[in-house]
Amino acid sequence: MTRRAVVAGVGHYLPERIVPNSEFEATLDTSDQWIRSRSGIERRHIAAEGQTTSDMATRAARNALADAGLEPDDLDAIILATSTADLTFPSAATMVQAELGMTRGFAFDVQAVCAGFIYALSTANAMILAGQANRVMIIGAETFSRIMDWTDRSTCVLFGDGAGALILEAAKGKGTNTDRGVLSTDLHSDGRHKDILYVDGGVSTQTTGHLRMEGKEVFRHAVEKLAETATTALEKIGMTGQDVDWVVPHQANIRIITGTAKKLGLPMDKVVVTVQDHGNTSAASIPLALSVGKERGQIKRGDLLVTEAIGGGLAWGAVVLRW
Ligand code: UT7
Repeated sequence: MTRRAVVAGVGHYLPERIVPNSEFEATLDTSDQWIRSRSGIERRHIAAEGQTTSDMATRAARNALADAGLEPDDLDAIILATSTADLTFPSAATMVQAELGMTRGFAFDVQAVCAGFIYALSTANAMILAGQANRVMIIGAETFSRIMDWTDRSTCVLFGDGAGALILEAAKGKGTNTDRGVLSTDLHSDGRHKDILYVDGGVSTQTTGHLRMEGKEVFRHAVEKLAETATTALEKIGMTGQDVDWVVPHQANIRIITGTAKKLGLPMDKVVVTVQDHGNTSAASIPLALSVGKERGQIKRGDLLVTEAIGGGLAWGAVVLRW
């Protein structure tokens, strides 16, 4: 028997306010047509004034608990992936822990920007396999609207706010690819590329800053590295793109998503796509896509999923998971 980290529940939360592309036409030299054709984005959700990352994360977490039929104290840990925590400290994860009324276990944040959920998922899996926890809530939550330069048309039209949550719990498997749960992980970063996607401010420089991106350069790295890491994660367990039921990619740009699927040899009807409705929600994008994909009836128990993401650092990776 092999110990596995198996999905017990999933949920998401999106802020009420929806901003269509056309809203940018009033303040920026841009168009709905440009944004749609270059990124695939049609609209995005933006957090209400005063609404924080931990608030959205808590709502997503409650939905995941309801989906799993669990109470907060049934969890051993919360791992929250974000680059836009409410405060410098304490972690947004401990704020969620308090809001949920969870009085035991431990909670911490992970920061790997758009790859944050992949890093958090991989960490949760490792902790479960090591016996450090039996049930872990993994959340991706972001308020990227707070770090946008709203005068920069090359970035501000691309991002949105939201949160998604997934619960993993320990279960026994046979040790084969037919097991449910996380089957393989693959993580990378290369700090030599730190200047192509970053925020030009932070605590130790006593500024807040805005997101800056060399879009074309990030794009080039994305298609190449995402296909590579997804292939590696599959190869580690003797599988290929042909075994995959669903690719659940980081939702940054439809052209990156289609380019990666093509390299994996997979048709688009095997890809969960939410970028048109959410924009790029950084660490929240994959759990949002998992939750929406399940809600739409796309992702079903027993399906083989490969999920991949890349973001600032650069940091990237993939997880293979049987739902
Ligand atoms: O989640 C983390 C990872 N982030 C990403 O994966 C994003 C990766 N990059 C991208 O998705 C794409 O590179 C973008 C969507 C950001 C840009 O698409 P692109 O096809 O690479 O366009 P570009 O940056 O080469 O810009 C083409 C033109 C430029 O004008 P000139 O120099 O050709 O005259 C830009 O100034 O489009 C212009 N442009 C815009 N025009 C209208 C840039 N932003 C806009 C805009 N509206 N919003």
